[in-house]
Amino acid sequence: MMIHHWLRQERYPRMQVFRSLARLTRPIVTFQRTKVTISNEDHKLRQFIIYHHVERIYTDLKELGYHDNDPLKLTDLIKLDQWHYNGTEPVDAAIKLLGIREGARVLDVGSGIGGPSRYLAHKAKCHVTASELLPDNHRVGQDLTSRCGMTGSVKHICGDITTTELGKEEFDHVVSFQAVCYVEDKRRLFRHLSNSLKPGGTM
Ligand SMILES: C[S@@+](CC[C@H](N)C(=O)[O-])C[C@H]1O[C@@H](n2cnc3c(N)ncnc32)[C@H](O)[C@@H]1O
Repeated sequence: MMIHHWLRQERYPRMQVFRSLARLTRPIVTFQRTKVTISNEDHKLRQFIIYHHVERIYTDLKELGYHDNDPLKLTDLIKLDQWHYNGTEPVDAAIKLLGIREGARVLDVGSGIGGPSRYLAHKAKCHVTASELLPDNHRVGQDLTSRCGMTGSVKHICGDITTTELGKEEFDHVVSFQAVCYVEDKRRLFRHLSNSLKPGGTM
């Protein structure tokens, strides 16, 4: 069902979709210049997540005219780095719904390669902690954030959010775009996230 929907999204022309599907069968993910071995746990998760082969973003950036390590324009990157439905629209909706203001501290749960985190930090002028489980997504996220010149407003952390140590009352807001569905123990997740919210904070 999810894959079907994904195939129908305009930004993935048919050939690219086939190329990506062909890559899904490979047991090893290659991260631009490094080889990354997937642990059993990661591998289990990847069966549910269609966003394998994260290095594809570098090929897509080349098609937009960017070379390795070129500084990136956020307006170009948002065409590629929003790993949920409807692009930046849900992020704009979250800013409005949660009342995210300049200077706020926001936790983004399951940040992928950091697309929503960067857009949020840029749009609301807030500070975002981008939390991602998979090391290769995390590393690409860090690289893209650095190339956007946004390391001052977006911090990337890697690990399972349910066991990541979060400061008590550290955040004004918690957001998550199409990631909570992958966490099995939701009761534990929300208890953990609630503890990290300041009094009056929103999720
Ligand atoms: C569909 S992607 C969405 C990524 C990002 N929110 C976006 O919209 O661009 C879901 C992400 O959640 C991450 N994820 C799943 N379970 C997680 C967990 N327990 N802790 C942290 N991240 C998790 C996955 O690795 C994946 O990158």
